[in-house]
Amino acid sequence: MAFSVSVLLVACALGGLRAQLFFAEESERKVDVLMYQLSARLEKLEREAVEAAKPPVSFAVSLVNTTEWTHRGPFNTDTTLVFQKVITNVGKGYDANTGIFTAPVGGLYFILLNGNVGSSGTLNAAVIKNGDNVFAVYDTRGTFGGVSNGMPLLLEAGDRLWVTLWANKSVFDQSRLTTFSGFLLKAA
Ligand SMILES: *[C@@H]1O[C@H](CO)[C@@H](O)[C@H](O)[C@H]1NC(C)=O
Ligand SMILES: *[C@@H]1O[C@H](CO)[C@@H](O)[C@H](O)[C@H]1NC(C)=O
Repeated sequence: MAFSVSVLLVACALGGLRAQLFFAEESERKVDVLMYQLSARLEKLEREAVEAAKPPVSFAVSLVNTTEWTHRGPFNTDTTLVFQKVITNVGKGYDANTGIFTAPVGGLYFILLNGNVGSSGTLNAAVIKNGDNVFAVYDTRGTFGGVSNGMPLLLEAGDRLWVTLWANKSVFDQSRLTTFSGFLLKAA
C-alpha cells in the first residue's frame, strides 16, 4: 500500500516536472522566435539606413560632348535625342547609347528639360514616359532662344524616360545649354 502511494507520488512529481519542462521549452521557443523577428527587423532598419545615407538616384546629361557649337535637326521625322555628355549618373539609370533613363527604383522624381533653339529657329521637344508625352518645351523666338520645363513625376522601377525632338524642329548645344536631368526626391 505504502509502496503504491510512493509510486503514485513519484509518478505525479515526474508528470509535473515534465509539464514544467514542456512549458520551459515552449517559452524558450517563443523567445527564439521573438529574437529572430527582432534581428530581422534590425537588419531591415540597418539596410534602410545604409540606403538613406547614399546619394539618391540622379542623372544629368547634355546633348553634345563637345564645346563646339552644334545644331541638331531639323529632321523630317520625330527623333529621340541621345544626350551624349554624362555629367551625373548615380544609380546608372541613364544609358548614353539610347538616350533613355530607366528608373532603377520606384518613387517620386523631379525631372527637368532645358533646351536651346537650333538653326530652324523653332524648338519643340518633349519628355516621353514609356511612350506617353508627359511635358514639353516650345520656343519660336529664334535660334539660341532658351526654354525649360520640369516637374515631379511618380515613376515605378523600370519606367523609361527620354526626349523626343519633333519633326522639323531643331536644337542647339555646346555641352551645357541643352540638358536633361532628374533626381529621386523620395523612394516609394
Ligand atoms: C566626352 O569627351 C571626353 C573628352 O574627349 C571623353 O573623355 C569622354 O569619355 C566623353 N564622354 C562621353 C559620354 O562620350
Ligand atoms: C515638316 O516639313 C515638311 C516640309 O515643309 C512638311 O512637308 C512636313 O509636313 C512637316 N512635318 C511636320 C510633322 O510638321
